Amino acid sequence: MTTGSLLAADLVIAVLAAAAWLGGGAASAARRRPLALGLAAFALLATLARAITITALARAGWWFAAEKVLIAAPLSLAGAVVAGPRLLRAPRDIRSVAVPLLFAGYAVSGGLLVTVLHGYPASAGVGLLAVAGVVAATAVTWRVLGARPSGTVSRATLAVAVAALVTGTGLAVTPGAAPGVPHDHEYRDVRTAGEPTRRFTLTAGTATVSVSGRDVEAWAFNGQVPGPELTATVGDVLEVTLRNRDIQRGVTLHWHGYDVPNSQDGVPDVTQAAVLPGQEFVYRFLADQVGTYWYHTHAVSDLGVRKGLYGVLVVRPAPVTGVDVTVPVHTLSGLPLPAPRTEPVEAGMPVRLRLINTDSTTHRYALAGTPFRVAAIDGSDLRGPTPLVDTAVVIPAGGRYDLVFTAPATPVALFVDGREVYSTGPVSTATGAWPVLDPLSYGVASPVPWSRLDKEFTLVLDRGLDLRGLLPRYAHTVNGAADPDIPTQVVRLGDIVKFTIVNRSQVVHPWHLHGHHVLVLTRNGRPATGSPLWLDSFDVRAGDVWEVAFRADNPGMWANHCHNLAHADAGMTLHLMYS
Ligand code: C2O
Ligand code: CU
Repeated sequence: MTTGSLLAADLVIAVLAAAAWLGGGAASAARRRPLALGLAAFALLATLARAITITALARAGWWFAAEKVLIAAPLSLAGAVVAGPRLLRAPRDIRSVAVPLLFAGYAVSGGLLVTVLHGYPASAGVGLLAVAGVVAATAVTWRVLGARPSGTVSRATLAVAVAALVTGTGLAVTPGAAPGVPHDHEYRDVRTAGEPTRRFTLTAGTATVSVSGRDVEAWAFNGQVPGPELTATVGDVLEVTLRNRDIQRGVTLHWHGYDVPNSQDGVPDVTQAAVLPGQEFVYRFLADQVGTYWYHTHAVSDLGVRKGLYGVLVVRPAPVTGVDVTVPVHTLSGLPLPAPRTEPVEAGMPVRLRLINTDSTTHRYALAGTPFRVAAIDGSDLRGPTPLVDTAVVIPAGGRYDLVFTAPATPVALFVDGREVYSTGPVSTATGAWPVLDPLSYGVASPVPWSRLDKEFTLVLDRGLDLRGLLPRYAHTVNGAADPDIPTQVVRLGDIVKFTIVNRSQVVHPWHLHGHHVLVLTRNGRPATGSPLWLDSFDVRAGDVWEVAFRADNPGMWANHCHNLAHADAGMTLHLMYS
């Protein structure tokens, strides 16, 4: 069982246990004896079953189980200890066990709420809050049901006190107030020497674009979605003038996966101010990194990218031979892009397909009709990629894969989630059952380039209630905090930095660090054995633990966030800063 399914199973069992205790309590209050006894017996079993799931989660990693072990387990135990024995005596007056059963229900629910609303790290404060809630609910119930104070109540109180004590001792520290992003950050103006200069102008504006025959209201660069393809040859200087015609909430350009100097990174309020209607900003940087990248607005990024403010950036080596096609996949108003295209290719020609996922969710790509290699991922060439046949690749949000092959005499077709997007002629193949390539074991390994680690950070991804803003929100959190309260990671120039990224939520988080490529060390405890993988976007799935490292060689203030941009907006954004 994967940790992801274990997390889900534990959640389901906890919900069932809570519901059964509460249901049993209600049934006994209503004097429905068989129902009450049945539900309570089920609840007791479910509560005991959690001992198994919680233990298994703790073995998978303390991050997955901390609050369950320290808060939910003692609470559930208290509930079972109070309600269990009374139940086994199967009292004639079933109404007499209503309060103990409801107490157990509150206790299990309290633990569940701690997991769902707070998660990691466990804190004594949250534990005590849960205990207080359980005691209060029990006291109210006891009054409402008109029962007289009894041994049950004193025993419940004792159990509650024990639970509070256990919680207190298992105290974990909550992150303190975040230093936040300093706003006096200097916007350095980096001018790059060198010619020739490739100049582009991108004008952002609202537009009506046609997608598969339908008119769609979009936000577009130069009236088109995707925006113009920006291409350069290695050694060029790229100069891109961004203008905003009428995007009221502002635009910027972020060069996704392209490690620009910080001042050119396009993050509003961090490296520049957002470009408002009527304003412009000129980006200038050296095209010294060959590969497939993309650009997108980073102002209201979730909405902006979804509505069409994105495009392709490709830096090619000189000279280019063969056929070179970019396939930026996107979903615009529910309609898939790009439109399918067919172009015959002469047999024997080298072909490179640059697959780009510009959506906020994962896509599955399948190339049929030819063996191929994955030549590069996220702009970095792989070492010793071997030919693949009838194998799909799964690309995380923001990620890019370059597929290369020699055109066969017969047609070839590329499918995205089963939809044909590119072909050299008619192909009919079912690709849905193909295995998916695991890039961690593809290609030829080489030793990790560093023998030391200077800084380590752990990022535990989850959901939680965020009460710090104006309105409470159910945020996507990192270490229990949401943007802007997640402490900034501080590194020094030259540091070798390791991130351990843990996903204890139920959804995938495509992680993206600006300004650097990270080298994958391990996933779920297993070392990467294939070609060194230098990624800027990688899917941390439910229950996953990734260890990645990078050299801090690009000074500045960098965004570090989930590239499901809705998650990033809902709190899952922090920053990496050089001291
Ligand atoms: Cu493509 Cu900060 O993102
Ligand atoms: Cu996410």
